[in-house]
Amino acid sequence: MQRLTNRQIILGITGGIAAYKSAELTRLLKGAGADVRVVMTPAATEFITPLTLQALSGHAVHQHLLDPEAEAGMGHIELAKWADLILIAPASADFIARLAGGQGDDLLSTLCLATDAPICLAPAMNQAMWRNRHTQDNIAQLRAGNIGIFGPGSGAQACGDTGPGRMLEPVELAQLTAEQFDTGALAGKTVFITAGPTREALDPVRYISNHSSGKMGYALAQAAVDAGARVKLISGPVNLAAPARMDVVQVQSANDMLAAAMDGIASCDIFIAAAAVADYRPTAVSEHKIKKGSEEVMELHLVKNPDIVASVAALPGKPFTVGFAAETRDLLNYARSKLERKQLDLIVANDVSQPGIGFNSDENAVTLVSRDEARPLPQTSKRQLASQLIRQIAELYNRAQ
Ligand code: C5P
Repeated sequence: MQRLTNRQIILGITGGIAAYKSAELTRLLKGAGADVRVVMTPAATEFITPLTLQALSGHAVHQHLLDPEAEAGMGHIELAKWADLILIAPASADFIARLAGGQGDDLLSTLCLATDAPICLAPAMNQAMWRNRHTQDNIAQLRAGNIGIFGPGSGAQACGDTGPGRMLEPVELAQLTAEQFDTGALAGKTVFITAGPTREALDPVRYISNHSSGKMGYALAQAAVDAGARVKLISGPVNLAAPARMDVVQVQSANDMLAAAMDGIASCDIFIAAAAVADYRPTAVSEHKIKKGSEEVMELHLVKNPDIVASVAALPGKPFTVGFAAETRDLLNYARSKLERKQLDLIVANDVSQPGIGFNSDENAVTLVSRDEARPLPQTSKRQLASQLIRQIAELYNRAQ
């Protein structure tokens, strides 16, 4: 079920007595880490209330195609694009017929027409309706169109009949849904990533900082999410949009970043420190703006900031800890001594003296340095490099377990 972490699933509910089981199904999908948005047909709301599904999914239930309020939030095309998978459970005989006919006469059928995501159905109906030639033709046509058909099961039916047409149990449906996705290299793992610069205040209007863009840390966070991890991105001030599917904590100073890193650290499996943390901060922050005086030279008194990655690496039961080393010379030696000094499991070393890579650029080239080896990863876009890094980190993490 770890395959469901971060997956965005539309659960379509159509009219049938089995709709009461969709509440449990929502709970199971959510519990396995999926983000679930429920779409109900008008008939479905006769069997179970949208309020129940709203409470369980944590989102307002989508019901109408032409609802200006809902369209202003997440319109139907946006919703169709949002989905990684559409699961319709229960799928009534009528809905199956409309889907096979390519109709778009309500929100759910329109979403099915508009999406590129896989669609799966859990049929639920009376045994005679299931065996009916039209239903069987529709199912055969949908199967041929690569639509997944989960079940139905066979047994006692709500109407008193016995036979095929029962919706599969929610546990079985959640399992079959999970099997539609690949297992990511970090499925079910929790990863904390620091990114961007920190700002160390001098007074209410001035600060000490650096040119870090945060691009590498953000790309790593995205790659970790794509690999199935639960991600907390702890970000200093950057000009990048907050990415989806992860918990983003915005911070300013190194002390704030340390507090955010330590919050919930016991649940963290892998800690990646990609932030360019200011080494020092002003000894005191002036309450008011510092005025220009007559003196030609001004002295600033600075005090050392906590080392965030070293603090994490010093914890008992520490996560697999990965640091970065940006150097202008003697890259591997400095990286190795940093690995030792900070007690890290891995260092991503990059030579920032080379033009076109590192700070503020879109490309990077690095060497992965662990206790036993140094693996170079050649120059490529930060996005490409991030997925290669996450793959390597996952491999080394698994080896260390
Ligand atoms: O010691 P140096 O700053 O070169 O080490 C860089 C590595 O240590 C990076 O991974 C950086 O995110 C981390 N670091 C930190 N807290 C600091 C300084 C650096 O986490 N105060």
